Amino acid sequence: MKLASAFLALAVGVLLAAGPSGAVELSIVSGDTGNGIKVLREILDRYEKKSGNKVDIVVIPPSTTDQFGQFRLWLAAGSSDIDVYQTDVIWAPQLASQLVDLTAATRDVVGEHFPSIIKSQTVNGRLVALPIFTDAPALYYRKDLLDKYGAKVPTTWKELADTAKLVMNKERAAGNKDIWGFVFQGNAYEGLTCNALEWVMSNGGGGIIEPDGGISIDNPHAAAALDMVKGWIGTIAPPGVLAYQEEEARGVWQTGNAVFMRNWPYAYALGNSENSPIKGKFDVAPLPAGSGEGDRPVATLGGWNLAVSKYSKHPEAAIDLVKFIASREMQKYRTLKTSNLPTIAALYDDPDIARQQPIVPRWKQIFLNAQPRPSATARIKYNEASSQFWTAVHNTISGQGSAADNLADLEARLTKLKGKGW
Ligand code: GLC
Repeated sequence: MKLASAFLALAVGVLLAAGPSGAVELSIVSGDTGNGIKVLREILDRYEKKSGNKVDIVVIPPSTTDQFGQFRLWLAAGSSDIDVYQTDVIWAPQLASQLVDLTAATRDVVGEHFPSIIKSQTVNGRLVALPIFTDAPALYYRKDLLDKYGAKVPTTWKELADTAKLVMNKERAAGNKDIWGFVFQGNAYEGLTCNALEWVMSNGGGGIIEPDGGISIDNPHAAAALDMVKGWIGTIAPPGVLAYQEEEARGVWQTGNAVFMRNWPYAYALGNSENSPIKGKFDVAPLPAGSGEGDRPVATLGGWNLAVSKYSKHPEAAIDLVKFIASREMQKYRTLKTSNLPTIAALYDDPDIARQQPIVPRWKQIFLNAQPRPSATARIKYNEASSQFWTAVHNTISGQGSAADNLADLEARLTKLKGKGW
């Protein structure tokens, strides 16, 4: 009797989890940046209608560093609470062993995506995540203010600092008390690694860890880049920038209180949204470079993907969901609403996208030439290496130790972390 009722309870439980006519309930975890969650919900509503399945979103904070920490806890615990993870482009090598291999299930669609992005999510021959959007930053600038003061769009960091100062001072003198010259991501987290890689590399200071595994960060060009940024804090950039992530920078920018901003394409659609005070007043350009011979602008490659947990109780349905969100149709929908850059090549020729989010076709070459972080080289040690890097950078730009000393110390730490190899 006892056994029979236990069996009944189990059967009812299974039926409930499976829902009517085999439908299942899935959960997807995603960070919250800009209008990303709202648009994801709209996409999921369409999926629910089509599939009969239900999907809940588990919303977590926007910092990719915090997300990674949380994902690792869930995965280490073998949690089946999360079926689908929205993962940053850099995390594939570190999470791969706990993610389902999507190679066979995506054979029909994988060719639509840029091969370089697919490669970045392929670890030991297993495709561990399917891309939903890619990322490459822009220099956002206030067209109206540059025109007002006859200033050009800067192409070097020096020009950026000079123009930021000029426009900021004149605007303040004219009564615009809250305006700053430049905002970016100066908090101690992965976003600072992206910003600092751009400063260092565009100043001839190399890529921190080079593709051959060599550590290159202790050099005078890198130190000069960090000294330059230290000089911005409290002069052209608000002191609070040392705690800014993407959304804090956008907050200052979108209320009209910054002349320049470094941010990802998602800020384009939001800046031009209905109630935005800067709607129609700004444009985007490639990031500046150093002033030395051969210095070139550098944009760090970002991007987001969907991965299925090895511990999901519904891997088939989860894969179906991932394919739906990553599909051409849904990527188009997302891009129209968020100005995220698609990972499907054909969408860069889409006339609706070109009309509504003109940054997208303009950013195709920028993203194709963007600089990957050394995650494929440092592999399972990437998070630790990046955290050593952003800590040294944050110390330097907040006035704790000189750039030269901090970078020498960083190189020693990275050498130790590397040990016998990455
Ligand atoms: C963006 C990028 C991501 C990067 C993050 C840093 O979300 O797409 O790759 O790690 O910014 O904050």
